[in-house]
Amino acid sequence: MSNNLAIYTKNLTKYYGKLRALNNLNLKIPYGTTYGLLGPNGAGKTTTVKMLNSIIKPSSGDAEVMGYNIVSQKQKVKLNCGFLSESLSIYEKLTAREFLEFVGELYNLPKKLINSRIDEFLKIFDLKKRENHLLEGFSRGMKQKVCLCATLIHDPKVLFLDEPTANLDPIAARIVKNIILDLVKKANKTLFICTHLLDIAKELCDVIGIIDKGVLIIEGSPKEVIDSVNASNLEEAYIKIMKPVDNKDYLAWR
Ligand SMILES: Nc1ncnc2c1ncn2[C@@H]1O[C@H](COP(=O)(O)OP(=O)(O)OP(=O)(O)O)[C@@H](O)[C@H]1O
Ligand SMILES: [Mg+2]
Repeated sequence: MSNNLAIYTKNLTKYYGKLRALNNLNLKIPYGTTYGLLGPNGAGKTTTVKMLNSIIKPSSGDAEVMGYNIVSQKQKVKLNCGFLSESLSIYEKLTAREFLEFVGELYNLPKKLINSRIDEFLKIFDLKKRENHLLEGFSRGMKQKVCLCATLIHDPKVLFLDEPTANLDPIAARIVKNIILDLVKKANKTLFICTHLLDIAKELCDVIGIIDKGVLIIEGSPKEVIDSVNASNLEEAYIKIMKPVDNKDYLAWR
């Protein structure tokens, strides 16, 4: 049903018990697009990417990633996509190198290729000296870098990044942004990025969607979103769209 789309969702909905975390999400994202999903805490961003990576099942509706159904073809989805999770999933008792080798082997990559990719990534992220150290001794930002290496190791065509620069220092965040730009320009990847950082959205994304309480309220290029509310930049547009409570309310507790 999705033809040339990398990501397609049709009325995708998720309930946790009685709580509706995502309400009839419809997305059509062509290959090669960098899509940014924005929205406040609890809006449904992580729920969306978890479903699109076949980690949790939708309550209703349907979705395809690279033409694979997220429920009936979940192995294909997992094999072909890369997912950087918000909650860093690593094995603390492995060294950085062992962990990345393990992930590479899960994807059945040849040993030589795994080793050359690990060398390349650890060098980019300045982790070469720590490659034989246990991950339990890594800082949160260092673990984030290792997880990003693990997400890229099988060179997936479609990448889902949930808060990719969270916990990173400014230089590491810049490296990640450059990697993202490179992946899009040189390797023609499709990226789906959940973020709170409007500079990432503005700088990297062709299309952004803003969700609130599980509902997609606006979608378009950063310029279209800015123009839709006559704002001068994305931050002003986001604030106008989200209509925050008046400042007076923030100060009322004093
Ligand atoms: N496993 C779960 N069980 C119950 N409720 C959940 C579960 N996971 C998420 N929720 C709820 O679903 C809603 C959407 O959560 P989600 O994690 O998708 O938000 P988010 O947009 O990623 O937020 P954040 O910006 O804080 O990461 C929230 O109300 C959250 O409490
Ligand atoms: Mg989240």
